Amino acid sequence: MNTITLLQPDDWHAHLRDGLALKRTVPDLAQQFSRAICMPNLVPPVKTVDEANAYRERIMAHVPEGVDFDPRMVIYFTDNTAPDEVRKIADSEYVNAIKLYPAGATTNSDSGVSDIRKVYAVIEQMEKHQVPLLLHGEVTHNHIDIFDREKRFVDDILSPLLQQFPELKVVLEHITTSDAAHFVLEQDRNVAATITPQHLLFNRNDLLVGGVKPHFYCLPILKRQTHQQTLLEVATSGNPKFFLGTDSAPHSKNAKENACGCAGCYSAPTAIELYAQAFDQVSRIERLEGFASHFGADFYGLPRNTKTITLVKEDQVIPESLDYLDGEKIIPLYAGNTIQWRKM
Ligand code: NCD
Ligand code: ZN
Repeated sequence: MNTITLLQPDDWHAHLRDGLALKRTVPDLAQQFSRAICMPNLVPPVKTVDEANAYRERIMAHVPEGVDFDPRMVIYFTDNTAPDEVRKIADSEYVNAIKLYPAGATTNSDSGVSDIRKVYAVIEQMEKHQVPLLLHGEVTHNHIDIFDREKRFVDDILSPLLQQFPELKVVLEHITTSDAAHFVLEQDRNVAATITPQHLLFNRNDLLVGGVKPHFYCLPILKRQTHQQTLLEVATSGNPKFFLGTDSAPHSKNAKENACGCAGCYSAPTAIELYAQAFDQVSRIERLEGFASHFGADFYGLPRNTKTITLVKEDQVIPESLDYLDGEKIIPLYAGNTIQWRKM
């Protein structure tokens, strides 16, 4: 198949940042996706429905003329999130979920939840109002190996959480392991997962063999190839529990190419083509539309998009770098490499 037409895709996990960054990130994402869940890990984080609505307006100010883009907002879970905020989300037009970062797990997560049991009163309301809980699924204890942190989160935190709240809607974000994929498969329909392009296309060899490649460093960290293969299987299986979330996370070139480099891959400008590349590599390009354009909207209870996009099987070189902030550069995921798909 050399061209494929699909309903416009949505990105159920993206980082746009704030201020000057929006000039780069909003047009890049809006040209690819109709809707995006805009992550709340700003400094300071987006903690209430009012703050989320204000952030949405700052995003909307950067949507290019003639482009339809509907940012879907989430608020950032802290130890002090009020149970009453859940009802406000349920009543709100633009806010869809609450994002939980275990404190210290990743970029800008210092104000995250210190112990999930402290926020069970809020989670009880989320189950009642069917407001999805989005999880960065990694434990943070120093003694737990970075490659095991997702599995430990599933075993020690998520599994007991779902025993306590069996009807809670949960998205396990950016899954990276067979353990997480199998856990999601075993749950009822209220538990789903997003998968990024980097975890479908790459594994830890791409990050570490032949020198450290900081532009492949994101969290959760790339795992071994067997996990990559499981992720490809579930993403391309047609199972609606798995859907698109790029986790596109911009950091300037200097912040990435650094003795203490930041975590995050910037995939927004060519995200749908990167997914097409991954699906085509396992001869499942016909399964892309469900993953990219149906299952996420269905899970969130939002209507599917109506416009379409067309992808053509034609070489495209990903730019070496892009302008970012005031005079800085950003290196997109897979920069300088050729992929076989292009959005028309
Ligand atoms: C994200 C970021 O930079 O905000 N980084 C990342 O490595 N994925 C945060 C996150 O989603 O973990
Ligand atoms: Zn993220």
